[in-house]
Amino acid sequence: METQKNETIKRGEFLRSLGMSSAALMAFYCMGTLTSCSKGGDDDPDPNNGGTGAKVDFTLDLNSNDFKILKETGGFAYKDNVLIARAKSGNYVALSKICTHENNLVAYRSINDDFYCATHGSVFDLTGKVTVPAGGAGQANLKTYKTALSGTNLRVFED
Ligand code: FES
Repeated sequence: METQKNETIKRGEFLRSLGMSSAALMAFYCMGTLTSCSKGGDDDPDPNNGGTGAKVDFTLDLNSNDFKILKETGGFAYKDNVLIARAKSGNYVALSKICTHENNLVAYRSINDDFYCATHGSVFDLTGKVTVPAGGAGQANLKTYKTALSGTNLRVFED
């Protein structure tokens, strides 16, 4: 009876039983053959929103401590896999925070009014278009999202 139970234990359950954290599990899976962790060839390195499959659609309270920086021109913040910035124009820009070169973190640079990945130097304009492709000419643009401001609530969403 006990032997049969052990034979049907799932891979994740087994690894958890060894005391591996979620982060360690993710690293383990990424070293394996699962394609969800590898670099994709399309414009969206995270097409299913962090594995949830849900479309991006959230609202930020710009009075909250986490997002009050977005009231300032040049401020930016992250929510899930999205980078939200208030560009020099005062308009909000939202796009994927995941660099299309090797999936590292992209940041907003107010001095240049663009987006920059410090890992290898990729640069993207305010539309997400790659302008300095560390990955070469075929590097994809960043996926962009729509924004809508209502009072101090900023909605970020996709169609
Ligand atoms: S991962 Fe962003 S430039 Fe290489």
